[in-house]
Amino acid sequence: MLFTEYLPFVKGNSIICSITYWYHLVLSWQGKRQALFLLSAYFLPESPIMENKQKHRILIVDDRQDNIKVLGALLAQEEYLIHAAQNGVQASEVIKHITPDLILLDIMMPEMDGYELCRRLKNDSMTSDIPVIFISAKSEIEDEKRGLELGAADYITKPFSHAIVKARVKTQLALYEQNRRLVELNRLKDRFLAMAAHDLRNPLTIIKSFSELLLGSEGNAELNPKHKDYISTINNASSGLISLLNNLLDITTIESGKFHMDFKKGDIEPFIRERIEINRLNANKKNIVINEELFNVPDLFFDRDRINQVLDNLLSNAIKFSPKGSTVHVFLYNKGRKVFVNVRDEGPGISEENQPKLFGEFQKVGTKTTGGEKSTGLGLSIVKKIIEMHKGEINVVSTPGAGAEFIFSLPLS
Ligand SMILES: Nc1ncnc2c1ncn2[C@@H]1O[C@H](COP(=O)(O)OP(=O)(O)O)[C@@H](O)[C@H]1O
Ligand SMILES: [Mg+2]
Repeated sequence: MLFTEYLPFVKGNSIICSITYWYHLVLSWQGKRQALFLLSAYFLPESPIMENKQKHRILIVDDRQDNIKVLGALLAQEEYLIHAAQNGVQASEVIKHITPDLILLDIMMPEMDGYELCRRLKNDSMTSDIPVIFISAKSEIEDEKRGLELGAADYITKPFSHAIVKARVKTQLALYEQNRRLVELNRLKDRFLAMAAHDLRNPLTIIKSFSELLLGSEGNAELNPKHKDYISTINNASSGLISLLNNLLDITTIESGKFHMDFKKGDIEPFIRERIEINRLNANKKNIVINEELFNVPDLFFDRDRINQVLDNLLSNAIKFSPKGSTVHVFLYNKGRKVFVNVRDEGPGISEENQPKLFGEFQKVGTKTTGGEKSTGLGLSIVKKIIEMHKGEINVVSTPGAGAEFIFSLPLS
């Protein structure tokens, strides 16, 4: 009897469930926890409204039953699944049991108002993506602004036109769906890239190692110059592919937020010296001199491997874009509460227009390498991410034709 009284809208497959009514009814003679348990047990998951999983769930939060009825009946015509709550506290409880695809939210309500509920939803990663549309009689521009600032997707003022409510709900649901699909596709892309890079790396490492063996002193004796040439081409190509795959793996782990950093306190100078020595081998091939001026700096927190990666990329860029016989300068010093590392070259430099683009993924700005080195345009985007994860900064200063200088700084905790 009571049940039918509060289920007045049974239209086709759409049912308006007056959760609030049951909530209050049960609450009056049982504890709050038990009330919610009973509610969820009644409506989930055996509830008829779960039958069609394709349907969008809309949660209407309004302290007035008549508003819930009007909105509910209106949206039930569109075959949505409707849930209801009478204030922010109830809505929060409902959301623990069902995940709505959209929330229509009144502002002025007892216990917890719409603004507060919206703020909480947007601060919780589980609910932050659910679009919220405020439906309120408060029609001041400031109210609307506040709602949108809190992360609401839209704002409709009462009295509302039925057509507008339907249209805006439809639009927000379509955007929500599209967004979900994009997130899913992005995840798939990351997984695919990570898998491909991982599975390709092993055979490539084998090719690289065996070509190195053949080029090494033992294998070398039996090779004629032509064969040596072929094998060195195989070696270069496999090295290039391995570093491309490593970069791709880095980009995907950075994007998925799983880029692990291992900060330790220490002196950065020995690492800079080591990377200079390693890169000097390639510099020597082009008669490029690396000049270092490394001042003593205080210890700082940094991830060794990642900072090595940064140094390698800046040094290898300076070497590969510089003319033969030029000089690359490396500086280390501290100023204020920061440690600075500068890598300066005498290459072609980078135009002002291109400077901001350099740190984007796959950005090559037309600079030619001077010794046939490979270029993918991924290095600096990874460098920037690594520096940012150290709460540092990286910038480039360059006058085209007069070289480029990359400067990064790391904070002294
Ligand atoms: N020292 C430099 N001098 C001139 N151009 C540079 C220098 N460093 C980077 N660039 C430009 O920035 C682009 C991006 O660099 P990076 O992300 O390290 O990729 P990659 O090294 O694979 O080319 C390079 O392709 C080049 O066009
Ligand atoms: Mg590079």
